[in-house]
Amino acid sequence: MILHDNGLFLLKNDSFSYLFKVGKYGELQHLHFGAPVEITDADCFACIPGPGWGSNLVMDDADPHSCPDFIPLEWSGSGRGDYRESPLEIGRATDLRYVNHRILEGSQPMVCGLPQAHGDCETLEITLEQPGLRLKLYYSLFDTALVRRTVVENTGDGEISLHKCMSFSMDLPGNYIMTTFHGGWSAEMRRMDNRVGGAKITNESRTGASSNQHNPGFFLREAGTTENDGVAYGFNLVYSGNHYAAAQQSQTGLTRVMQGINPANFCKVLAPGEVFETPEAVLCWSDAGLNGLSRAMHKFVNDHIVPEYWAGRPRPVLYNSWEGCVFDFNQHRLLNLADRAKDLGCELFVLDDGWFGVRNNDHCSLGDYNVNLKKLPDGMDGLAKRITAKGMQFGLWFEPESVSPDSDLYRAHPDWALTDEFTPILGRHQLLLDLTKPEVRDYIVSSVTGILDTAAISYVKWDMNRHSVALGAKAHDYILGLYDILRRIFGPRPEILLESCSSGGNRFDLGMLCFSPQVWCSDDTDPIERLTIQGNLSYLYPQSTFGAHVSAAPHAQTLRATPLSTRGNVSFFGCLGYELDLKHLFPVEITEIKNQIAFYKQYRALFQYGRFTRHALGWQVSDSNMAISGVFHQQVSAAPPYERLRITGLEKEKTYRFRSLEQKIRVGQFGNLLKHVVPFSVSPSGLLVRTADAHYAMPDGGEDRTATGAALASGVMLKPLFRGTGYTTDQRNQGDYGSNVYIIEPVE
Ligand code: GLA
Repeated sequence: MILHDNGLFLLKNDSFSYLFKVGKYGELQHLHFGAPVEITDADCFACIPGPGWGSNLVMDDADPHSCPDFIPLEWSGSGRGDYRESPLEIGRATDLRYVNHRILEGSQPMVCGLPQAHGDCETLEITLEQPGLRLKLYYSLFDTALVRRTVVENTGDGEISLHKCMSFSMDLPGNYIMTTFHGGWSAEMRRMDNRVGGAKITNESRTGASSNQHNPGFFLREAGTTENDGVAYGFNLVYSGNHYAAAQQSQTGLTRVMQGINPANFCKVLAPGEVFETPEAVLCWSDAGLNGLSRAMHKFVNDHIVPEYWAGRPRPVLYNSWEGCVFDFNQHRLLNLADRAKDLGCELFVLDDGWFGVRNNDHCSLGDYNVNLKKLPDGMDGLAKRITAKGMQFGLWFEPESVSPDSDLYRAHPDWALTDEFTPILGRHQLLLDLTKPEVRDYIVSSVTGILDTAAISYVKWDMNRHSVALGAKAHDYILGLYDILRRIFGPRPEILLESCSSGGNRFDLGMLCFSPQVWCSDDTDPIERLTIQGNLSYLYPQSTFGAHVSAAPHAQTLRATPLSTRGNVSFFGCLGYELDLKHLFPVEITEIKNQIAFYKQYRALFQYGRFTRHALGWQVSDSNMAISGVFHQQVSAAPPYERLRITGLEKEKTYRFRSLEQKIRVGQFGNLLKHVVPFSVSPSGLLVRTADAHYAMPDGGEDRTATGAALASGVMLKPLFRGTGYTTDQRNQGDYGSNVYIIEPVE
């Protein structure tokens, strides 16, 4: 609901209220973003700015309370006495004042090609002006989020150089901790918490993409806010390019927060009459802690960001060829893998890199999307037909934004690559194509659709393994070019499931999610690393967007050996896939994977779309009927404490069965301890144990109890962890990196 009364605006949904007013001088004063309140409460939030004595400037010399530097604002100018960071820079003073407003059903469609949140909402359009410049601020109110963006129009006679224009700016009273997420390749989503004070905190990417270095999503929370209690604000940007966010406390204790396209090296020249639109920024609020905030953000992404066709739709269990084959495959090997994957229960077979040109390594062929008939003699169509005939779907990897200098495309069109006046600088031996050129976009659209339309392809992995060197408005235009390509390819083919990837999670953002319902979280599939990566992604993004695969152990990047159960248990909390050479699986592993996939399929809706909770021991997904909880361990100790697992969100009075997913443990895991278990002498590394490990696994201590929702919420005292007492099913005999999954269902 959006209400207007005498210069006051209230935007109110079931989650929060957002209140602001037109001030005496036409400035927009921020009043409240938080708990649901009424428009009549505005008086409670009105802030009476102190007098602008000293060296402060005032809007009216007769009014000492008109100091712009002291007022909590929804938008602010520069060069007119508000010394805080301005959301707008055009190289001269700006002083935009309220002119009028409109309240619209739905959102106001964007015209520049940026993606936009979809679905039910109401929109408030506020127009501000100064001579030669018009600004429209859009506020679209969705069920769990407010979406803001800005449109600038040059209404003068000369050009305007737009150096900076944020999607939103806002001044929040109070003290906050800013939570941001940083990292690098195979090290995505490292969480950082910093107190916002007088020194500005910024969160920005400069790689040309949203980047794994600094995810665009961030939080502001009050000091006492925990996972389950307290006030927190969440922000994110529907954009895949260079982004920028800043938070800083002013002299009067207001926290100015803003987000938008990174102004670094940015400049867009607006001719008279020309308009510039910013990406949408998403604002959420919760007083139910970070879990509450995440749920609001998850709901928004699931309902209003991912393509409508895929909203709530089950995601297939996939097999991906990359970690198992890399570039070394042929049709025979792929079909053999497909047979094995099908037998395990996989529903989709994805052929990753290496199928085109002469791409037998990553030094060549990007750009040449002609099928390598030496590897695939029946062509892509032939391969797809054979795989779909097995009852699986077929998916394919592309990296359309890049070009290898050693490619026919580059030899024919060297000018299509994005370069500068220096020697081309390469990343993974490749350059980016200049997506600002219409002929390049046409080439990409026709080469990708040429493959998609001649073979039964129901999934595309869209990779991007080097980032841009483009600066200024070109970096932004590159992203607009990318969106144009994605729209042209996948708009008419909505049923193709698109998974975006950029060396893993180097472009995990709401812009890409508008086209690709899932994103490859990281090239790092070590489950212990994934606890950080997926766990921290879960602050901002729902688990339906996480590509999460079981890979081989010891792990290719960490050399860490983890149990297959833990690799499965972590990957369950996302879109499950398998990415390893299936030929080398032991019979006992084949059985375990079959069980994992069957279990996941049974509870797929809960894992992909259930209400997600981070808890002290791991993660939980639940709906109104049931819950599944994962408990994960890293290094165990010799004297482990008891663990009490709280199951939240169930009905207090109802009775539930609490049971663990059956798990087995390797005989060889016990090493020399085997002498205490078997009645004869056995070499822990001998043939007997190795043969036993291939065919047999021992049951681990599981759970099967009954309790009310109230008792479960207080916590189940789990069976203890192994404590040097020998093997027994009265404990969890797991060692390092063990984990369990517990299923909690009502007793009929
Ligand atoms: C990137 C991706 C991987 C894989 C390779 C193929 O690294 O993140 O998943 O697709 O490219 O070259």
